[in-house]
Amino acid sequence: MNARGKVQRLQRKDLLGLEYLSRDEIELILELGKSFKEISERPIKKVPTLRGKTVVNLFFEPSTRTAASFDLAAKRLSADTINVSSSSSSVIKGETLLDTARNIEAMKVDVLVIRHRAEGAPHFLASRLGASVINAGDGCHEHPTQGLLDMMTMLEHCGQLDGLRVLIVGDVAHSRVARSNIWGLKRMGARVTVCAPLTLVPYGLESMGVDLVTGLDQAIVDKDVIMVLRIQLERQRSGLFPSLREYARTFGVNRERLKRAKEGLLIMHPGPINRGIELDPDVADGPYSLILDQVTNGVAVRMAVLYLLSGGEGARDEH
Ligand code: CP
Repeated sequence: MNARGKVQRLQRKDLLGLEYLSRDEIELILELGKSFKEISERPIKKVPTLRGKTVVNLFFEPSTRTAASFDLAAKRLSADTINVSSSSSSVIKGETLLDTARNIEAMKVDVLVIRHRAEGAPHFLASRLGASVINAGDGCHEHPTQGLLDMMTMLEHCGQLDGLRVLIVGDVAHSRVARSNIWGLKRMGARVTVCAPLTLVPYGLESMGVDLVTGLDQAIVDKDVIMVLRIQLERQRSGLFPSLREYARTFGVNRERLKRAKEGLLIMHPGPINRGIELDPDVADGPYSLILDQVTNGVAVRMAVLYLLSGGEGARDEH
């Protein structure tokens, strides 16, 4: 802790979910992310902070944003990086997840970033490896760095998270992004409302301290931020809603529907977007959209997480 009683480092080896982080820890990461963001604006986007460290990205599910962002974040801190995907790894020859991870760790790596379709896969590895493990998305469970980059973006545009009214709309049942955002936003004092068809609401959601509504037109009226979720067609069993057309008509965010919103309602989406289903293109690309800011902040927040898990302290003095 520093003289103001603020934590200055994470007292943990791994980042597995926002459920487990304190408000102080989240504030530390967001503050550090803000300070690291400037590095990506420089002509030479690199500092020596993590020179000599090695980060391995182990992705067993597709990714554009998260995989590229972790790779860039590590490189901008001068760490060495290796990217391993399931299709190019020995997993397709029958190797177990643990054997794969142990073999990678035997090459003396410092941080293992993992995305896996099985909930708990990062936790499983974290308890068996000496290297730090970062959850880059485990099934429908958590995606903590997405929650952090979303909070960093809200903070940047709204000034504070305490009391912020955030509406999360869409396929919450299959969304690790929603779960991480709910844990993080609630910890930071935001008021979170979830709007979804009941077939896309996970069991126990209300115990997370959110309000649940099914009518988007009413829910939208008094919110500061709306976070639109992707319909995850690849994870769904059939019959959770009548048709995509029906879903778009009832839960799609479009310009007409936003006429009921407060002036300046901010639009967020973790990507990838199903344009014209959960979000209309003119809203996604419109003046209140923060979607690309989210992606930019993803690099900064991941730099902060990599730095802190690699034992960093007082980073602002070092770059
Ligand atoms: N938001 C997100 O996780 O995107 P990717 O699947 O492209 O990494």
